[in-house]
Amino acid sequence: MKVLLGVSGGIAAYKACEVVRRLRDGGGAPGASGHEVQVVMTEAATRFVTAMTFEVLSGNPVATALFRTDDPRIEHIHLARWPDVIAIVPATANTLARLAHGFADDLLSTVVLAARPEVPVVLAPAMNTVMWDSHAVRANVATLQDQDRFRFVEPAAKALACGEVGVGALADEGAILGAIVEALG
Ligand SMILES: Cc1cc2nc3c(=O)[nH]c(=O)nc-3n(C[C@H](O)[C@H](O)[C@H](O)COP(=O)(O)O)c2cc1C
Repeated sequence: MKVLLGVSGGIAAYKACEVVRRLRDGGGAPGASGHEVQVVMTEAATRFVTAMTFEVLSGNPVATALFRTDDPRIEHIHLARWPDVIAIVPATANTLARLAHGFADDLLSTVVLAARPEVPVVLAPAMNTVMWDSHAVRANVATLQDQDRFRFVEPAAKALACGEVGVGALADEGAILGAIVEALG
């Protein structure tokens, strides 16, 4: 199956590398391996992990830019028609806001908006606890949960990279892979 993996700009972006590896090569839940993976990174994500890492792990060029001059295809439409499932790992507060409000101001949000509604979108948020509990993020999560296509892999409670303790850590890779497999049906 074809998995488009969106990576947004949180500290947990490095954990998406292992998700890509396991989607391709195995080590996850039954049905979680042997998939084709296309990675789309936000500009912020490239500050945390290089596109080269995801290119090597996915075996495909990584898409990062909405505006390109080296490809005559309209890339966001081409990418939106490709996957059986979209998963965003990690999903930042900013990316959740973009999706909840239908913004299309970067490649990843435009691809999600342009993908047909029958393509499920698995969201694995990760952020500081106070951000996760904020009114804005709660409202954006509720807006997305109202739509059948969006499936959340809830963040875990533990010591966070920022040094605080609480809910907001990226769910473990097994749970994310399981949600992707379930979304693939
Ligand atoms: C060191 C550092 C760590 C960050 N970690 C997170 C995070 O875990 N979750 C989050 O939602 N935002 C985090 N941010 C903020 C995002 O990078 C910022 O909101 C960015 O605009 C997200 O853009 P994107 O959604 O387009 O990837 C972090 C920023 C920095 C500088």
